[in-house]
Amino acid sequence: MTSELRRRMEEAAEAVRRRVAFEPKLAIVLGSGLGALADHIETVGVVPYAEIPHFPTSTVPGHAGRLVLGWLEGKPVAAMQGRVHLYEGYTAQEVVFPIRVLFALGCRTLLVSNAAGGLNREWRAGDLMVITDHINFQGTNPLVGPNDDSLGPRFPDMSRPYDPVLVELAERCAVEERVVLRRGVYVAVVGPSYETAAELRMLRGFGANAVGMSTVPEVIAARHLGMRVLGLTAITDMATGEAAQPVTHEEVLRVARELEPRFVRLVRRIVREMEL
Ligand code: HPA
Repeated sequence: MTSELRRRMEEAAEAVRRRVAFEPKLAIVLGSGLGALADHIETVGVVPYAEIPHFPTSTVPGHAGRLVLGWLEGKPVAAMQGRVHLYEGYTAQEVVFPIRVLFALGCRTLLVSNAAGGLNREWRAGDLMVITDHINFQGTNPLVGPNDDSLGPRFPDMSRPYDPVLVELAERCAVEERVVLRRGVYVAVVGPSYETAAELRMLRGFGANAVGMSTVPEVIAARHLGMRVLGLTAITDMATGEAAQPVTHEEVLRVARELEPRFVRLVRRIVREMEL
């Protein structure tokens, strides 16, 4: 029996296929201020989220809200320029719907990116990090609710959400491109308020290296579907709880734009060398 979710996934995927006859293999999610990667895609078609049935549309400045399909470094990709977050009022299931549609379109690998606060005192705003593991501190999970066994298991394994082969590839590409790449654990909070100093101390005590408001739901949904995942974080501010300056969204976007050329260079190299 076809589940309601499966039906909506297929409906959305079919709407995209009708607009753009193209089969992507790599799904890319572009985080806050990192949308310029899409400029390097040899575009076959662009579909605004608003024109895809059941797709959530973003309400945050810096998140354009369109799907860019085409070739990046010779690989067929579908890049999400903009994503939605729990703090906008969407459910975790709504947040991950686009990932499921990209899977329905043919993507079996996910490269997800985000902007986040750095928890390590030795790190600097502007650093890049490859995600080795995550902590779901959002108090919800996109898999809550009925499970469609044809999509994935009721109780999916989450012992290695980030593909070690892809982490290693990212680190090798960083060396070749002479880009400093940190590695670490990403913790997701709901937001939208930034963390208090006490919360940051707690998160650091958890063993997290970066804190942000996205990515974890998408990764859980992707792993549920059996997709391989690579996660990259742009450290846009130092969330040590000791900064003289409070964090602002404007500062997050400014630093993201500043590091964007380095991020683009690294991602292009990774995609070029990635086996799909
Ligand atoms: N905290 C949470 N989310 C973020 C931050 C932060 O410091 N920076 C960018 N996204």
